[in-house]
Amino acid sequence: MLEHLARKLTRKEKQGSSVEFDSSGPVPNHLAVIMDGNGRWAKMRNLPRIAGHRAGMKTVKEIVKASDEIGVKYLTMYAFSTENWKRPREEVDFLMKLPQEFLSTELEELIERNVQIRMVGSKDELPAHTLKALETAEERTKQNTGLQLIFALNYGGRKEIALAVKDIGTRLQAGEIDLEQLDEEMISRHLYTSDIPDPDLLIRTSGELRLSNFMLWQLAYTELWFTDVLWPDFTREHLYQAIAEYQGRARRYGAV
Ligand code: FPP
Repeated sequence: MLEHLARKLTRKEKQGSSVEFDSSGPVPNHLAVIMDGNGRWAKMRNLPRIAGHRAGMKTVKEIVKASDEIGVKYLTMYAFSTENWKRPREEVDFLMKLPQEFLSTELEELIERNVQIRMVGSKDELPAHTLKALETAEERTKQNTGLQLIFALNYGGRKEIALAVKDIGTRLQAGEIDLEQLDEEMISRHLYTSDIPDPDLLIRTSGELRLSNFMLWQLAYTELWFTDVLWPDFTREHLYQAIAEYQGRARRYGAV
C-alpha cells in the first residue's frame, strides 16, 4: 500500500512543498464529503465555533477547485443535516448564511469553470435568503456541463428514503404503478439524487467513524476513507492521498 501511495504521490519542490496528482489511476466519478471538525478546530484556537465554519468554507473552495482539476464529475458536500437545527441559534444562523457568502465570492469563477451547482435536501425549512442564493446559483449554472457541485443542505438520509417511500405509495394508491414494478431502481429514482450516480468515494474528516445519516441508500458500495484531520486543516494533498488509497482498493460489489 505504501509503495502504491509513493507511486501516486510525487513530491515537488515547487512554490514550497506540494503534492502532484497522478491521474493514471481511476478518479472517483462521484466524491462525497462529510466535512467534520470545524467546531474542534475553533475550540483548539480559543475561537468561537463559527470561526471554524468560516475556516471550513475556505477548505470548501480549495477542494472544489482541486476536485474539478483532477476530473471528479460529481462532488457532494454535507453542509447541514436535518439534525443540525438542534445547534445554538447563532450557529445555525451563521451556517445558513454561508451558501450566500460562498457564492458571492465564488459563483463567477465556478461559472467560468463550467461548474453546475445543485442542492440536495429539503428546501422547506431553509431561510428565504439561503434558498434564494442557492436557487440563483442553480439557475445560473443549470446549462453547465462540468463538475456538478452538490450541497447537501438540510439533508437527512432517512428523511430522503421516507419521502421516496411516501411518493411511491401515493403513486401505487393512484394506480399509476403496480406493486410488481417496485424495485431498487424505482426507489433510487425517487430520491433527491435520482439523476446522480452513487458516490464512489466518501471522505469523512475529524476522526469520527460514522455516516451521520448521510446518503444511506447511495453509499451501499461506496469506498469509505476516514482521516483524523479536521476539515479546516484538510488540503488538496489530503484529497490526493484519499484518492491514491481509493485507487489501490479492489471494488468487488459483492462479487469475488
Ligand atoms: C461539522 O463540523 C460541520 C458542519 C455541520 C458544517 C459544515 C459546513 C462547512 C464546512 C461550510 C459550508 C460551506 C458552504 C459553502 C455551504 P462540526 O461543527 O460538527 O465540528 P465539531 O464536531 O468539531 O464540533
